[in-house]
Amino acid sequence: MKQQFRNVSIASAVVLSVLNLFGTSASAADETLRGAAGDKMLIGTAIMASDLADPGQAALISQQFDCITPGNEMKPDALQNVKGTFTFEKGDAIVAFAQAHDMKVVGHTLVWHNQSPAWLYADESGKPLPRDQALANMKDHITKVVQHYKGKIIGWDVVNEAISDKPAEYLSDTPAHKAIGDDYIVKAFQFAHEADPDAQLYYNDYNDEQPEKLAKCVRLLKELKDAGCRVDAVGIQGHWMMEWPPAQTIDDAIAAYEKLGVKVNVSELDIDVLPRNTTGAEITATEKSGIDSFKSGLPSELAQKQADRYRSFFEVFAKHPGAVARVTFWGTHDGTSWLNDWPVKGRTNHPLLFGRDLKPKPAFDAVIAALGASK
Ligand code: XIL
Repeated sequence: MKQQFRNVSIASAVVLSVLNLFGTSASAADETLRGAAGDKMLIGTAIMASDLADPGQAALISQQFDCITPGNEMKPDALQNVKGTFTFEKGDAIVAFAQAHDMKVVGHTLVWHNQSPAWLYADESGKPLPRDQALANMKDHITKVVQHYKGKIIGWDVVNEAISDKPAEYLSDTPAHKAIGDDYIVKAFQFAHEADPDAQLYYNDYNDEQPEKLAKCVRLLKELKDAGCRVDAVGIQGHWMMEWPPAQTIDDAIAAYEKLGVKVNVSELDIDVLPRNTTGAEITATEKSGIDSFKSGLPSELAQKQADRYRSFFEVFAKHPGAVARVTFWGTHDGTSWLNDWPVKGRTNHPLLFGRDLKPKPAFDAVIAALGASK
């Protein structure tokens, strides 16, 4: 009897310790993205200041992510729509939330041709300003904004989307380019560095993992370095799709940037599950009508396919330890993604790791698993 009892207790001890062994590595449901990423990379999300008013979303944001990019609140039209009047309130609210939850903040963006007031680089009739006036406006904007957030943000997307999509053109002929010339990018990096020598500085674009734009981007980064500019990382936005691009393209691009000695931020990651004609992310591109097949939810086989896509991307990032400094998702949950309105307005898209109910999707488990397996 005694012997039997002892056998039972040994058996249950073994069962318990086996359970404990598995129990110590928490299930994906208990794990967080920031926890799984550890010191390997920052895991960010783009938010709107209004997201923080929703307690469920605010909790999810601070539990899962250790970095925030304001989705719109630090763009030129948000901070200085009227010359000389700076409106920092919403950006400041995001910074305060981040500080309260041990999260970093990335500034997005100082110079861009979209969401930027015309007066910066053009006169009232739309004519480019004389170079010295355009440079003075750019310098004043960059200096005041960067100094305001000095010590509160880790780095800036200094210039966004400057490289042309046209095969024969290097830089897009944006208002800043028209008024200042090719060196407006060098100037922007210099002004940002003078305003906060400790801030990291990034160049950010879409499709800069695609061979054509990659070549132009490598040229730009070399020119910046040759001009003595601080450049910490290149942002590959990562507005990708279910079938495009192949993971190998991303792998090759990271290797090319690694060779140049700049880090990579995957700065705006999402995986569109709806068809669109536009690759990349030129926000003025519009498509009138588009298939909107998943209004009542994403079928589970597609949710799994999306999870496999996310896994393959994170496996690529893991192949380059230390090269990818940050991965930021462009939104926290499917309901607030910009892809519900771009390039077709009013669709129901499902591009992120969390659903509209704020619950993790299969893509979340896939990312956790890939992060956990990487060194
Ligand atoms: C998007 C925002 O998410 C939207 O809310 C806004 O209406 C348009 O801009 N590339 C960028 C981001 O660099 O700033 C864009 O953000 C998405 C594409």
